[in-house]
Amino acid sequence: MKIKRSILITGGAGFIGSHVVRRFVTRYPDYRIVNADKLTYAGNLENLTDVEKKDNYFFEKIDITDKKAIAGLFAKYGFDGIIHLAAESHVDRSITSPDEFVHTNIVGTVNLLNAALSSWQKEKENKLFYHISTDEVYGTLGSTGRFTEETAYDPRSPYSASKASSDHLVRAYYHTYGLPALISNCSNNYGPNQFPEKLIPLAINNIKTNRPVPVYGEGANIRDWLYVEDHAAAIDQIFHNGKPGQTYNIGGNNEWRNIDLIRLLCRIMDRKLKRPEGESEKLITFVKDRPGHDLRYAIDSSKLKNETGWEPMTSFEEGLEKTVDWYLTNTGWMNNVISGEYEKYYDSMYTGR
Ligand code: NAD
Ligand code: TYD
Repeated sequence: MKIKRSILITGGAGFIGSHVVRRFVTRYPDYRIVNADKLTYAGNLENLTDVEKKDNYFFEKIDITDKKAIAGLFAKYGFDGIIHLAAESHVDRSITSPDEFVHTNIVGTVNLLNAALSSWQKEKENKLFYHISTDEVYGTLGSTGRFTEETAYDPRSPYSASKASSDHLVRAYYHTYGLPALISNCSNNYGPNQFPEKLIPLAINNIKTNRPVPVYGEGANIRDWLYVEDHAAAIDQIFHNGKPGQTYNIGGNNEWRNIDLIRLLCRIMDRKLKRPEGESEKLITFVKDRPGHDLRYAIDSSKLKNETGWEPMTSFEEGLEKTVDWYLTNTGWMNNVISGEYEKYYDSMYTGR
């Protein structure tokens, strides 16, 4: 089959990346999809076993901070599109190891921008560098208002500061060098394949195994949750219909206080595990708050809706059911990712050992 497009997806073995890879590989058989991933603790090729044998899918184990490896990758595949998801993505880890975040999220992004620029120097027509970012770059909200594309950046954790920095660099390359680039900033994702250091899979796993469910501070912080496949659908729309130089906010229109979300999960888990009602809630444990903990995120995604028609398709009820079912069924996946290093991380984070 003739290859219509050659697309690099970085971080495709991670949580969101694996859903984007699956969507592109299966929906666009005439696109060549190259997944480049370092396979850090968060990258897992088990996320992609259902597509790994497809003719249009290729995997390359690459560290985006390695300039030489990136140059070789571009020379080998001649990309016309890049969807850049590879990143260190967990706020708590960024508080204990900020250097790693600067290195991967900032230096890694610059390496990719340089490689795209040099590979597209003769012809920039029909090329696109699509940078995947987060709503956390906008900082924190009070009890009202939502982030729009015009909200000033005000990152407050090393993670969000490193993402903000990479966003600025992407825009700088668009304005300075004319690199065809765009950015989307999305709210909190949840769904299958998410590493259990993030709130929802961590809570599901702890409830299942009867471990305390740590709630930071008073559980009053608010996040806007989006089902991961809805994010992948938005990325598809923006990749095909977004305009270079633009930014698109993506959100779930689905704000929850952490404590209410955890209580809801406990009720779902009681039902699924046939426990007496109220049993799992007993596991809720309030712990020391995260330093600099952003109070509230909420996204206004009306620009994306108006320009592409995209809207979240999965209700929270349906998405949480699917997510819980996935984790309860895929026990092998969970056992593999929580062996070894995870236990060390968990102990240092939550049990002070
Ligand atoms: P994740 O941590 O699950 O996956 C990150 C992937 O990047 C992993 O596969 C990892 O191996 C890879 N990676 C890390 N460092 C690398 C390096 N130096 N070279 C190559 N690959 C490397 O993260 P995620 O939750 O899937 O997030 C993906 C992207 O989406 C990130 O850029 C993140 O900032 C952004 N984002 C995430 C959320 C969310 O709620 N998870 C929301 C908005 C935006
Ligand atoms: P998280 O999933 O780490 O995403 P982010 O920090 O990027 O929003 O956390 C979601 C919310 O849940 C955040 O307000 C921190 C809180 N939280 C807990 O209360 N307990 C936990 O064990 C974790 C991991 C997070």
